[in-house]
Amino acid sequence: MSLKGKTIIITGAGRPNGIGAGIARCFAKEGARIVVTDLDGSPFDETVASIDGDVTPMIGDAANQASMSALATEARDRFGHIDVLVNNAGIGGPVLEFDEAEEQIPLLAMSDEAWDKQLESNLRTTFSSSAAVTPLLEDGGSIVNIASIAALGPATGLPAYGAAKAGVVHLTKTLAIQLAPRKIRVNCVCPGLLWTRAWEMLAARMKQRQPEFANMTERQIFEVIVAQSTPLGGEQTPEDIGNLAVFYASDNARMITGQVVAVDGGISVK
Ligand SMILES: NC(=O)c1ccc[n+]([C@@H]2O[C@H](COP(=O)([O-])OP(=O)(O)OC[C@H]3O[C@@H](n4cnc5c(N)ncnc54)[C@H](O)[C@@H]3O)[C@@H](O)[C@H]2O)c1
Repeated sequence: MSLKGKTIIITGAGRPNGIGAGIARCFAKEGARIVVTDLDGSPFDETVASIDGDVTPMIGDAANQASMSALATEARDRFGHIDVLVNNAGIGGPVLEFDEAEEQIPLLAMSDEAWDKQLESNLRTTFSSSAAVTPLLEDGGSIVNIASIAALGPATGLPAYGAAKAGVVHLTKTLAIQLAPRKIRVNCVCPGLLWTRAWEMLAARMKQRQPEFANMTERQIFEVIVAQSTPLGGEQTPEDIGNLAVFYASDNARMITGQVVAVDGGISVK
């Protein structure tokens, strides 16, 4: 895939079972050097241990240009070049969205603060990191944005998350055009259903709120949702997302920019 020796910055990649760490493992397999970044360094040791390759952890707030600028400058000074930015940082959809008023229309039951938090974590992260890192990105490099299938249609149960991720899809297309003169390609992956911390939190909330799930474990709830909604049957893994990210960033995709592909076992075409 011609990624040997390239430097890849991945935001929100701190947790070993998260999508970011899976993306890192896929890039490492291709011989790339990985900078995994997150808000908090506590799970970094386990994450680094899960990646077979050249990995450097760095703390940075993906929603803050100054923080990402400092991080990118340090990475560029240490490694000489930055070739790929993966905008993966985000927070689980509904967990922080709603107040207690379940029977109301969810979108209208949100506080301004909850709305802002979703937009900051799931859309501004992509904007701020791209704005900060792009000036240091090599011409001919690549940006890969991680949105969600929630971006692709009405997301009634998680409206702010869906709106934020739809913004990521839109930003992908705008940036693709704006960065084309520098031959920087910008593409987007929309993951479907993955058993990461985000889904653990969501399933815990469903268990609490929905009587039909009361006697199930969080994992069992997730499996029921996967079985009900996935035509190909089965959940997606972080590596399923990472494989597409690697392809987008490689020379094999040299004429692909501004594109959005769901890795979801067919959920979004049902
Ligand atoms: N798990 C799924 O089913 C699923 C589905 C579709 C899309 N996604 C998206 O995939 C991405 C990764 O999610 P995940 O499922 O691995 O969840 P996760 O919670 O394991 O990972 C997200 C990481 O982002 C970090 N983060 C949040 N805000 C940040 C910020 N401002 N700066 C730096 N890091 C920040 C968190 O600390 C966390 O480690 C997210 O963008 C999420 O919306 C997940």
